[in-house]
Amino acid sequence: METKQAALQSVIWATDHLDLLDQRLLPEEIVYLPLQTSEDVWEAIRHLKVRGAPAIGIAAAYGVFLGSRNSNDGVEQWLQAVKDTSDYLATSRPTAVNLFWALDRMKAKAEELTSSNINHSLEECKQFLLQEAIAIQSEDEETCRLIGVHALTLFEEDMGVLTHCNAGGLATAKYGTALAPFYLAQEQGMKLRVFADETRPVLQGARLTAFELHQAGVDVTLICDNMAGMVMSKGWIDAVIVGTDRVAANGDVANKIGTYSVAVLAKAHNIPFYVACPLSTIDLSTPSGDLIPIEERNAEEITEGFGKRTAPRGVKVFNPAFDVTPHDYVTAIITEKGIIRPPFDVNLKKLFEQ
Ligand code: MRU
Repeated sequence: METKQAALQSVIWATDHLDLLDQRLLPEEIVYLPLQTSEDVWEAIRHLKVRGAPAIGIAAAYGVFLGSRNSNDGVEQWLQAVKDTSDYLATSRPTAVNLFWALDRMKAKAEELTSSNINHSLEECKQFLLQEAIAIQSEDEETCRLIGVHALTLFEEDMGVLTHCNAGGLATAKYGTALAPFYLAQEQGMKLRVFADETRPVLQGARLTAFELHQAGVDVTLICDNMAGMVMSKGWIDAVIVGTDRVAANGDVANKIGTYSVAVLAKAHNIPFYVACPLSTIDLSTPSGDLIPIEERNAEEITEGFGKRTAPRGVKVFNPAFDVTPHDYVTAIITEKGIIRPPFDVNLKKLFEQ
C-alpha cells in the first residue's frame, strides 16, 4: 500500500518561539510543543522530546536565543546571559558533540556582535543571534543532502541496507545523515531494501526510523535488535549505515547503544559498516573513543519502558545510552565533504585542514 506523506520537521522556529515535535509520542501522536524559554529547551533535550545529534544542536542554538532575549541591561550583560544560557544548556546531555558545537558557535557569534569594532544596538545583537540559529538549521539541511549524495555512491540498485537507531530527518533539519541516501535513492527511482533495528530500550528504530521511512514510501522492514545477525547470515544485508553522536580523532565512533554489536556482526559477515555524519559531529579534541562521555539513563527505560513493567522491582540495571565502535570496524565515514577512509587519524585531520 502506498503510504507516502510529507516529512515531519522536528524543530520549527515560529516567529517568537520554538515549535518542537515531541518525538516521545511518535508514531502514535504528532504533537508540537511551544517552547518559550531555555529551561523548556533543556527539559526537551534531557527527556528526548528532541533527540539525534544535529537536532539537539539546532534546538540548543534556539535555546540560547530564548534564554538571553530578555536581558535588557546592555550588550555586556546580554553577552553574559548568552554565555550563562550556553553553559546551562550544555548540561542537558553529554554525548552528542553537536550540542557543544552549536553552543560554541552561538557564543562566538555573540562575542563577534558585541566586539568593540562593531556598533550594534542590543536589539540588533539579539536579532543577529537568532539569525545564527536559523543558519545552523538551514545549513544542516544542505549538509545532510550532501551526505546523502556521497553515501548513495556506495549503494547499488536492490541492495539490502541495515541501520540502527534513528539518524533520519527527525534527528536533523531534513533528510538525516544515515537515512539521507535512502531518501535520495527514492527521489531517483533507485530501489533499496532498508532493515531498521528496533533499537532497545527507547525504540528509536521502531518508533522513528520505521515511521519516517514508511511514511515516505521507502521499502523498510523492522527487525528486533537481536535479529541483525540472522538477517546478515541469510545474505539479505549488503551494507550497514548508521549515524553518530561523536567521532573521536582516531575514528572511534559513539552511537546509540547496540551499534557496536552491529559493527562486530557486520565484520563477521564481511559487510561494510558505514558511518554518516556532518563535520560538526567530528571531535578532533577527543583523541579516542574511550574518552567520549557516555550518558547513562534511568533504569525505568528498561524495567518499565512505555508504562509496562517487564522486570522485577529492585533488580540491578545498567543502561548506557551509547556505545563506542572502535575504528577498526568502520569501513568509511561519510561527511558533507566526501567519503573518509582509513587511516582515520590522518584523514580526519586532513579534512579539517582543507
Ligand atoms: O538518544 P538519541 O536518540 O539522541 O540517540 C541518537 C543517535 O544515537 C543517533 O544515531 C545519532 O545522534 C545520529 S543522528 C543523525
